[in-house]
Amino acid sequence: AEAALVEDLLSRMTLDEKLGQLTQYTGQWAVTGPAVPETGEDEIRAGRVGSFLNVYGADYTRRAQEVAVEESRLGIPLLIGYDVVHGFRTVFPVPLAETASWNLDAAEMAARIAAREAAASGINWTFAPMVDIARDGRWGRIVEGAGEDPFLGSRFAEARVRGFQGHTLPGLASDSTVVATAKHFAGYGFAEGGRDYNTTDFSERTLREVVLPPFYAAVEAGAQTLMSAFNEIGGVPATASEHLYGDILRDEWGFDGFVIADYTAVRELMWHGIAADSAEAGRRALSAGVDMSMVDGIYARNLPALVESGDLPMAVVDEAVRRVLRVKRRAGLFEDPYRYSDAEREARTLLADAHRAAARDVARQSVVLLKNDGDVLPLRRDLPTLAVIGALAADSTSAMGSWAGAGRWTETTPILPALRAALPNTDVRYAPGYPVVRGTFLEMVDLALSMDTSGHAEAVRLAAEADAVVLVLGEHRELTGEAASRASTELPGAQLELARRVIEAAGDTPVAVVLTNGRPLALADLDAIAPSILEVWHLGTEMGPAVADVLLGYHNPGGKLPVTFPAATGQEPIYYNRKRTGRPHDVPYASDKYVSRYLDVPVEPLYPFGHGLSYTTFAYAEPTLSATEIGIDGSVEVSVDVTNTGDRAGVEVVQLYVHDEERSTTPPVQELKGFERVELAPGETRTVTFTLAPDDLLFWGMDVPAWTVEPGWFTVMVGGSSLDAMSRTARFELTD
Ligand code: IFM
Repeated sequence: AEAALVEDLLSRMTLDEKLGQLTQYTGQWAVTGPAVPETGEDEIRAGRVGSFLNVYGADYTRRAQEVAVEESRLGIPLLIGYDVVHGFRTVFPVPLAETASWNLDAAEMAARIAAREAAASGINWTFAPMVDIARDGRWGRIVEGAGEDPFLGSRFAEARVRGFQGHTLPGLASDSTVVATAKHFAGYGFAEGGRDYNTTDFSERTLREVVLPPFYAAVEAGAQTLMSAFNEIGGVPATASEHLYGDILRDEWGFDGFVIADYTAVRELMWHGIAADSAEAGRRALSAGVDMSMVDGIYARNLPALVESGDLPMAVVDEAVRRVLRVKRRAGLFEDPYRYSDAEREARTLLADAHRAAARDVARQSVVLLKNDGDVLPLRRDLPTLAVIGALAADSTSAMGSWAGAGRWTETTPILPALRAALPNTDVRYAPGYPVVRGTFLEMVDLALSMDTSGHAEAVRLAAEADAVVLVLGEHRELTGEAASRASTELPGAQLELARRVIEAAGDTPVAVVLTNGRPLALADLDAIAPSILEVWHLGTEMGPAVADVLLGYHNPGGKLPVTFPAATGQEPIYYNRKRTGRPHDVPYASDKYVSRYLDVPVEPLYPFGHGLSYTTFAYAEPTLSATEIGIDGSVEVSVDVTNTGDRAGVEVVQLYVHDEERSTTPPVQELKGFERVELAPGETRTVTFTLAPDDLLFWGMDVPAWTVEPGWFTVMVGGSSLDAMSRTARFELTD
């Protein structure tokens, strides 16, 4: 039925109508929300557009669909796309934060709620999940993904796709799911120097082993669209890469959804220097397999002449149209184009109490306790006075984080009011300490990076008088996300100086540093003076209540870092699954000089991948193996006993890493292969068991460029972080 519908439509379409289906334009802000402008309605009516982005609201989207379905010649409904990245009206933690929960069910639920809200507002397609692996904290968009690890990233990619789309393809036609987009295909996170949109250049091996696994996982989970990346890879812009869209995505993976270009990425092929004009840019992108252009209108405007002259085969256009129509049908749009635009459902769904409660729960799980010397945290609940210092504590806009959907700052509770509400008998005093961020984008960036110290004196006065201090530092959301790369990932502006003065003034008074940011920061100087650091990221609508829950011990933090936190920015890119090099610095035979290291900062990160403490403590026994030798059809069970040795219930994320001791291409020192969240009562012990099979040990082969595994010895490592696991090992041999 799908093919019949698609072929029937295709046979009746003019060339302009076909290219229209491959064209997406952006909406504009109307009186109460983003809508299709009048000129856009004309385009829809003429069949010259297949999709809009940045249009939402049950009324506006219904109107747009009416024009498409009732006023255009063929009545083909519109795909209506939006960046529903970490929530729609109810904003969940930024994806990097949510990944710190290591809780796949939580990520799936967050995506499901976002989809339910967006779908009630007329959206049927989200440009998420962003599954770019990012190893460089300078890159602003690291906040939008799942961090540095391909295994963790793949699991979160699947969970998020299932959350947005449902578990089965027929489920996609429901009125509470939206089409997902795995983006940005591919390698965008490898921008040189962490500078957004910059050149990337990495090997086919890195592409296969590191960059692509989360995309493959998303496609296997059913993702119906992918978005092209802005970057070039080794001389070929991703948006014109036949290797990516043809060889890999379609031929190898059998993907039958469609690919959309990122915003004006087709036009940008001219800036990349591989196309002299728009027509050539369009021809290269469409021929490579980028089916829909975003915003620049190049396919609709410039490709008819090329098809008519024979420079672009009609078959290429037809194939792209088939893919787009197929996805429209799978989204249920031909059955009922209005099912996503329901004003009554919209009113009852957006920011529903249950959604806020879920957002608070996921937010609490995303918090990572980086250090807690002297058990500064949790704070006493009977404090006479508490000083809350830091403008970010009161900033509801920043709390929502980058790409906050249709979230509203007026509906977001930041940390300060939440602490006041949670401590009705405490005198909670507040000093901003550093500038409040307001204004245009550039003004906000200036304020967020400001060296202004005029607020320090008041902050110091409060700290000296209080019974405890919560010092909120970090990055305003404008320092994170797209086009928000930083050359230095230290604390911005004069915040470190403020921390020094506040901690000194506090003396023996407990000071809890709360960090709100969207990237791994370089914190060595702060770590040297702060006894306790709680990483809370940007947590969304319920940020304040969630942070208060953790600070006051109503929730015991269990998050773990999905990215390595460096000791200094100069260590970037830094990631745990690195190669050993021929001259490692950390082996007994290392020379004093000719080893791979820096002279001025250590090689080791400050906080390793997978790190995160709890208000309780966990003890690990040595891992045991079910066998020390397995064949190619066999498997081995790795078991470890984990005990809660403290006096509170807590969650521990038990992590399994593997190291291939010798093979034909250089192996990483360790690679995550499994994890399990366990909740343990005080004194409770649980045996956690992972199964490893040869399929878990694959790498991109040397002579045969394909996934392969070679016989030999493997080290398994188990622990509460990548570093901790290094000290708890066992070995097995894979035999021929
Ligand atoms: O989805 C985004 C993409 O990630 C960056 N450029 C704009 C797109 C649409 O908003």
